[in-house]
Amino acid sequence: MTFVYPSEPLAVVPPSMAPRPRLTFVGTGYLGATYAICFSELGYEVLGLDVDEPKVAKLAAGQVPFHEPGLDDLLRKNLAAGRLRFTTSYEEVAEFGDIHFICVGTPQRADGMAADLSFIENAITSLAPHLRRKALIVGKSTVPVGTAEWVQHLVLGNADPSAEVEVAWSPEFLQEGFAVEDVLRPNRVVFGVKSDWAKAMLYAAHKGVFELAATEDREVPVVVTNFATAELAKVAANAFLATKISFINAMAEVCGASGGDVTMLAKALGHDARIGNRFLRAGIGFGGGCLPKDIRAFQARAQELGVGEALRFLSEVDLINQRRRQHIVRLAAELLGRSVGPAGPDLRGARIAALGATFKPNSDDVRDSPALSVVRKLSRAGADVTVYDPQGTENARIVVPDVTYANSLPEAVADADLMCVLTEWEEFRNADPIALAKLIRTPRVIDGRNCLDAALWIRAGWQYQGMGR
Ligand code: UDX
Repeated sequence: MTFVYPSEPLAVVPPSMAPRPRLTFVGTGYLGATYAICFSELGYEVLGLDVDEPKVAKLAAGQVPFHEPGLDDLLRKNLAAGRLRFTTSYEEVAEFGDIHFICVGTPQRADGMAADLSFIENAITSLAPHLRRKALIVGKSTVPVGTAEWVQHLVLGNADPSAEVEVAWSPEFLQEGFAVEDVLRPNRVVFGVKSDWAKAMLYAAHKGVFELAATEDREVPVVVTNFATAELAKVAANAFLATKISFINAMAEVCGASGGDVTMLAKALGHDARIGNRFLRAGIGFGGGCLPKDIRAFQARAQELGVGEALRFLSEVDLINQRRRQHIVRLAAELLGRSVGPAGPDLRGARIAALGATFKPNSDDVRDSPALSVVRKLSRAGADVTVYDPQGTENARIVVPDVTYANSLPEAVADADLMCVLTEWEEFRNADPIALAKLIRTPRVIDGRNCLDAALWIRAGWQYQGMGR
């Protein structure tokens, strides 16, 4: 069966007159590089731009500057095929592209919870003056609702009016570690548009995605809507996911106090299809470059809009999440028989092996990583911490330089008084408790991600402490 897209508009001729629209991706960080590479894989002619020359040189030489499974091969393949190039020149991007996807970062502002939109502003004011023919500028970055209107205003003020440049918004929903799949096989695409032309161009830009789906007998739902809804689609999704994680972590606190087991509770809840079992893993909470900053920026924007109360629950979601990190330090003190003074637990002299530094497995990303936050707290409480992470050591060292980094799991665990699993890498989930028990000074483990087989570890002689079980 072939899926038909009933709302698919009539074909448009791209302004460049190329058979398919030529795509540019402005900002080749995690988001832009992944999109640029995957869309060239779908057969589009693609140009990626970044102002960071070494990054552009690296990509052009076939090296992905971050860890994402499958991306290196696709980069090299499409560079070789001549469909994919990288540049630092806005003139070149303007000359080449029919659709310009804005993929720059929107970090949390240093002076508060709101998002910093200066990279978006720079991208638009650098690109727009060079546009000589009609083009579509499409925002992909995660932004506060209302940004697309502002971008349109910026474009009007900076582009030649006769070029009739238009703006649209199409948020991304990439998960690190699954980013290639998420771009090639998205579970939905959202188009925020103001004209039929913009809608037709976005359909043309995603034709490769729809065609791939059709060959696999899948459908990619398309939601065509206005700017505000498209912008909200992203932040609302992340707010929901963060809430789900903090919900189960709140249940972990209740389980801890009442003798319940949160992993079994999550199973029992997840069988209800209305709840679902995904994103119900209790542990040390969520981190990364998206969820924490997005729920804060969302609250800041709601305040500005006069509906701050509607999102007040998100500050509770954030607080539950932060509490998980502190909880590990208290558990460590308990397991090590240490006192908890007014200044917090005293872990002076304790040797702790911290397994994991990245915010989740299969990534080298340590941005707002719960694992590294715990490492820092343990170290501040006086513990002598040795960290091991299969991919994240290089990045972790920059953020937390004053702890020891081991080159292997056995090296980290050797002679420790306590082992803490902070990121659920497969290497840790499959670790041999009998072999490790021989290396560690006292076999005690805190399973911060509830990812170990508790019965197996207890049988091997370990004192096992999970999260909310
Ligand atoms: C997230 C969203 O999932 C994605 O759709 C959006 O585009 C960007 O933000 P990502 O940051 O890659 O993606 O990570 P995700 O897999 O969502 O995990 C976020 C954090 O939540 C991680 O620290 C993870 O360990 C934690 N988590 C996730 C839990 O603690 N429990 C869960 O059940 C799921």
